[in-house]
Amino acid sequence: MGDLVSGLSWIPANSLKGWDTGRLENIRRLIVQTTGESYRIERLRELPLDGDFGRWVLSDGNMDFGILWAMRLSDNCARVLAFSVAENLQGNGIGAEGWRHFALAAKGCGIRSVQLEVRQDNVPAITMYHRRGLRPRGCISGFYRGYDGWLMLGPLLVDVASQ
Ligand SMILES: CC(C)(COP(=O)(O)OP(=O)(O)OC[C@H]1O[C@@H](n2cnc3c(N)ncnc32)[C@H](O)[C@@H]1OP(=O)(O)O)[C@@H](O)C(=O)NCCC(=O)NCCS
Repeated sequence: MGDLVSGLSWIPANSLKGWDTGRLENIRRLIVQTTGESYRIERLRELPLDGDFGRWVLSDGNMDFGILWAMRLSDNCARVLAFSVAENLQGNGIGAEGWRHFALAAKGCGIRSVQLEVRQDNVPAITMYHRRGLRPRGCISGFYRGYDGWLMLGPLLVDVASQ
């Protein structure tokens, strides 16, 4: 990973219900900066994240620089609700590492497939998911502020699939 990202690691976080407002506000800003999507702090606090595989944060031990949050949809299917790496850290393999942590933990909890929603103009994220076996399965028109989205779905893979 390079000097820029030394000292950062993906770690499982405790329940968001126990987070203070400052920590949630930092994540709220991270989501706005990386996706343009604006959520209220109270809405973030209430997300039904899975405590065993769905509460990853990218941390330097002090502050959060990324999140990968997911919920369980059924016995064997998970849904990724939020995935962001701070803009100045993107493109260094950190997201791939986050996905790896999530996928390994989810597999250990019986998850076999995964789904998520992504804006159709978000080429980096779509490329990343496609390389991990997810495929667009439905168009969500007006997904966010008039932008269309894809529902992407596929097997849960830890690493890049053979193409
Ligand atoms: C999506 C995101 C979490 C990935 O994190 P990252 O640290 O930048 O990703 P990495 O450097 O590990 O790259 C992972 C993969 O993404 C894809 N990717 C990254 N940047 C890319 C680009 N500019 N163009 C095309 N693909 C790209 C590649 O497939 C890449 O390589 P890999 O498949 O061999 O692992 C991050 O870019 C981000 O926060 N984006 C903004 C928020 C967002 O769009 N979230 C997803 C919403 S569903």
